[in-house]
Amino acid sequence: MKFIYLCIMFALVPFLVSCGQDEFNSDNSIPIVPTVEGNLKDAPFDFGMAVNINTLKTNATYRQTIIDNTTRVTGENAMKMNTISLGQGRYDFSDGDYLVDFAQQNGLKVHGHTLLWYKHTPDWLKNYQGDSAAFVGIMKQYIYDVVGHYKGKVASWDVINEVINDKGEVYTTDGTKENIWMKKIGINYIALAFQFAHEADPDALLFYNEYGHEYSAQRRMGVNNLVKDLKAKGVPIDGVGLQMHTNTLRATSDIRNAIVMIAASTKVKVHVSELDVSVNSDSKIKDSDVTDSLKTVVFNNQQIWYREVSKAMNDLPVDQRYGITFWGVCDTNTSVATKPDWPLVFDANYQRKPAYQGLLQGFKVKY
Ligand code: XIL
Repeated sequence: MKFIYLCIMFALVPFLVSCGQDEFNSDNSIPIVPTVEGNLKDAPFDFGMAVNINTLKTNATYRQTIIDNTTRVTGENAMKMNTISLGQGRYDFSDGDYLVDFAQQNGLKVHGHTLLWYKHTPDWLKNYQGDSAAFVGIMKQYIYDVVGHYKGKVASWDVINEVINDKGEVYTTDGTKENIWMKKIGINYIALAFQFAHEADPDALLFYNEYGHEYSAQRRMGVNNLVKDLKAKGVPIDGVGLQMHTNTLRATSDIRNAIVMIAASTKVKVHVSELDVSVNSDSKIKDSDVTDSLKTVVFNNQQIWYREVSKAMNDLPVDQRYGITFWGVCDTNTSVATKPDWPLVFDANYQRKPAYQGLLQGFKVKY
């Protein structure tokens, strides 16, 4: 009996091996990757989620999904300037503090997003009258007070968000992107902001955060040049955030290249900071088309994109893997996709989608 069993096993070996990592789909491009068990918490880098504070307070399943699957959280809006800053020297830290308490209770790290972003400038500041020195003073006080408030509690900050234009330059004037700091202080505000954040908390890791690396060589070069320029000037910058609000029309090779190239050229830490993968970015799927079988097809396809992001992160040198943050928790919390769409890793019922398996494969399977 044992002999027969062994014969069957040996006869199966070539078949089993052919199901392994060298096997490719019929179009010869997408590798067939074995299914693996696991949790994102076990990854060799952090997985995080952007958190909406109201949902965190009111939805126990949302809360538990974060606790059960991540090692880091980011406030979706809780730590933006227009949330925190009520006026010069006046603050509302309640949402940020709630997030930090939640993180501490559950052993999660906190990534702060974002100190300065033209889009979330509070009205009082837009209307403020003052010269360049006055604005440097306001900026310094704001960064000192906020980073100081969270010293030792927020491990890393996006210091500056989105200052590269589509030509790959740091824009100084742009009609659609009124940036009060750029206008009043000039381009040097970027270096100053990093300097002030470092002075306020020398242990916090400091990031520049930007979108578009995966689809625009100009934007990628712009970030690359900015980071290198800051480093050359001795500015304390530790990493770069690639927002990666992406979709299944993008070539996965472009996504991989964006991650590995910026790591290779800048040598700083790389954070995929706002990941979501839209499956209907061209709006071809109408509400009336949506069926369970269609969702199965698009979810399985979406898995490939999530897997490639995870694999690219895993392929970086260990000290450059800052990890991957999803911009939301489940498909109903997304704020960036048009509907119908299912861009995140958990479905509307907080169940793991194939994307989750893809992420596990990205760091667990060699293919
Ligand atoms: C978005 C939030 O998700 C929305 O709730 C808010 O209304 C606008 O900002 N890039 C960023 C994020 O850096 O802060 C943005 O978040 C999404 C795009």
